[in-house]
Amino acid sequence: MIFSAMTDPVRLANGVEIPCIGYGTWQTPTGGMTRDCVKAAIAAGYRHIDTAFIYGNEDEVGDGVRAAGIDRHDLFITSKHWVTERGYKKTAAAIDVSLKNLGMDYLDLYLIHWPCVAKVDPAWEEINADTWRAFEDAYKAGKLRAIGVSNFQEKHLRSLMANADVSPMVDQIEFHPGHAPMDTVRFVQANDMVAEAWSPLGSGAVLNDPGLAALAAKYGKSVAQLCVRFALQNGVVPLPKSTDPARMRSNAEVFDFEISPADMETLLQTPTLGFSGYLPEDAPADALAGN
Ligand code: A2P
Repeated sequence: MIFSAMTDPVRLANGVEIPCIGYGTWQTPTGGMTRDCVKAAIAAGYRHIDTAFIYGNEDEVGDGVRAAGIDRHDLFITSKHWVTERGYKKTAAAIDVSLKNLGMDYLDLYLIHWPCVAKVDPAWEEINADTWRAFEDAYKAGKLRAIGVSNFQEKHLRSLMANADVSPMVDQIEFHPGHAPMDTVRFVQANDMVAEAWSPLGSGAVLNDPGLAALAAKYGKSVAQLCVRFALQNGVVPLPKSTDPARMRSNAEVFDFEISPADMETLLQTPTLGFSGYLPEDAPADALAGN
């Protein structure tokens, strides 16, 4: 993927296009802050906004979009289904709740936030398949322009795809220097899905690392810019977040340099750093605090 602007499109399997950098809203405070941030992000040039039911800010994302004065159709809005709403009926209702919260009549992308796994329920494959059937029906009804998953690893994807009529188009995973699960990314990309990166800056925890700082300095860029570019050069759509408009802008100024293959390898080999600790098989569902 060669890009020259944050609005350059990445094409999904069904032809829908996503701007190659998105604005993340996990952990963005509510009480008006998310609305103001989304409005500022759109003013800074972002056209792709990522939220989730569990973030508790879908309403403010909708308000921010309306306050920005941009045509809804010129934006790409993603939300996610929460783990308490699994199964066909609850999922179908959850989609309508998210649309209502956002004040929108369609979503550009809707994701299963976390896979059900054997530890949570031995019938995990059936449960994910039932949830997915509601996604497929809402997709076919035009409520969702594209559908996908988040935090799925290869085995969860294989199971879902084996039971699916419409294959997932996206898998959004934690991805940054210090936690770059390329095995999942390669599987996703080989199966005609787009990988997206949540916490592409390691939730800020990688930004003061001396090794990354030295590498970023070599390119005359910030560590945050290095991280965003690192995702893009791996074909992964990053969703950086900041509450600061100047940082929102600078995080997307990543089209005037290229990380060398040797430095990409160094970044891929970065020892574990800034990892959230959240993996579908390792954490109880109620400990997955909304990421
Ligand atoms: P802030 O909102 O004060 O800018 P991630 O996108 O990986 O989840 O990381 C988000 C975190 O990184 C937030 O704490 C955010 O804080 C911080 N952050 C985002 N951009 C920058 C930047 N350019 N420089 C320093 N910190 C940043």
